[in-house]
Amino acid sequence: MVAKKRVVKKTVAKKKNRLSKPPIVWQYRVMRFDVLSIFPDIFTSYLQQSLLKLAIERGLVEVHLWDFREFTEDKHQKVDDKPFGGGPGMLLCCQPIFDCVESVQQKSEEPGQLVMLSPQGRRLDHQLVTELAEYDRLVLLCGRYEGFDERIREGLKPLEISAGDFVANGGEVPAMLVIDTVIRMIPGVLGDETSNRYDSFAQSGLLEGPQYTRPREFRGMSVPEVLLSGDHEKIERWRHEQSLQRTRERRGELPANRG
Ligand SMILES: C[S@@+](CC[C@H](N)C(=O)[O-])C[C@H]1O[C@@H](n2cnc3c(N)ncnc32)[C@H](O)[C@@H]1O
Repeated sequence: MVAKKRVVKKTVAKKKNRLSKPPIVWQYRVMRFDVLSIFPDIFTSYLQQSLLKLAIERGLVEVHLWDFREFTEDKHQKVDDKPFGGGPGMLLCCQPIFDCVESVQQKSEEPGQLVMLSPQGRRLDHQLVTELAEYDRLVLLCGRYEGFDERIREGLKPLEISAGDFVANGGEVPAMLVIDTVIRMIPGVLGDETSNRYDSFAQSGLLEGPQYTRPREFRGMSVPEVLLSGDHEKIERWRHEQSLQRTRERRGELPANRG
């Protein structure tokens, strides 16, 4: 478990008079992400769309972008250099990364969990997303080129997270994946509070079964009769069976499948 418990506070508004019941006001802690990159502009459009945009507007999520170049002591704003011993490409240098991380961590009382996006890290999955969502602040380090000077790992001791067993051009898209998955766990972010409970990998640990919307018929394919029956118990049973079957067929290795 990597997480520090995320606190959800409940406050009861003061009674206006003795006759009326006090309204319950839920206050959610804001989750803060700091993204450190040499290409922070990649996030501009992403932050302005859909659920993330709404979460930011509602004050549930904050995303702060930082450019390593702003922290370099090099007069040409260089943040990378050739690897010792030769080899292709460039590596991100220690000085701008250390200074950027240390400065950004001091910008709030809570230094947060430092995360390095890396193909060599712990693979992102539902369990890790749940653990990350417990933090109040995540500081996401995005690499580029051939990656980071090893002393950045050694000195800053980040939690290394991989988006999967492949190599992306940079850590920005993997960082978006972290933000995108983690915010779904934050109370108030999803319109329907139950909707992440039924998602694949969530409460049941199974894959979600097939879903349908209108029309009832499309190109000779029809919606299963049970979903149109109005019998909620029968529908629940059918959905669970479908979910089990799909998980067995596609992801036999999932623990929920073995239980
Ligand atoms: C081209 S990659 C460098 C890969 C590095 N030379 C290696 O083989 O491990 C540049 C940066 O992209 C990011 N990156 C690439 N693939 C990733 C993955 N699967 N998950 C998370 N970050 C990744 C990392 O931040 C990495 O430092």
